[in-house]
Amino acid sequence: MIFPDANMLAINDKRFVPFIAAEAIQTRIQELADQINQEYADRKPLIVVVLNGAFIFAADLMKNLTIPCEVTFIRVASYTATESTGQLRQILGLSETITGRDLIVIEDIVDTGLTICEVCDQLRSQQPASIAIATLLFKPTALKKSIDLHYVGFEIENRFVLGYGLDYDGIGRNTKDIMVLEE
Ligand code: XMP
Ligand code: MG
Repeated sequence: MIFPDANMLAINDKRFVPFIAAEAIQTRIQELADQINQEYADRKPLIVVVLNGAFIFAADLMKNLTIPCEVTFIRVASYTATESTGQLRQILGLSETITGRDLIVIEDIVDTGLTICEVCDQLRSQQPASIAIATLLFKPTALKKSIDLHYVGFEIENRFVLGYGLDYDGIGRNTKDIMVLEE
């Protein structure tokens, strides 16, 4: 990971340039938190953070929540079932009972929407009282599933982004700005 200057990040042969500035991210997160504080004023939601990408967004969002809430962390593992053709995704790490709870699922980015749809389907099978999705980023033109996103930080074009929790090949999560792959 090389930062030749503040305006460029090079990882292997890829170059990333600033896309959404840290200040804009924080301002938007405060707005989302205000909305959640209002809409969950009389509930105690369980925040379900999808690791790894959402960890920084979730932390900053939670710091701006003023309602009582709990937090838990899940991972989504992709694997190919032995006799099945498609890729299935399995939720790892959920030890809480979610039946009857109001869940807010926190994602870094919704791209095709396949991941978040499967996560919600699996969570729904345990009969929570409600599920809302909060995603920092959303690529509407990449979406392949119809899905109701309750809290969206930024709608972006269909380009590869990294930083602020998102990675390229495991690298680049630790930038305050969101960067985009240079075309
Ligand atoms: P889907 O297509 O299932 O994708 O909505 C969800 C997961 O894919 C990863 N993803 C990205 N990661 N920059 C990234 O660093 C991107 O532009 C990007 N698009 C998708 C991400 O892990 C997300 O949870
Ligand atoms: Mg992710």
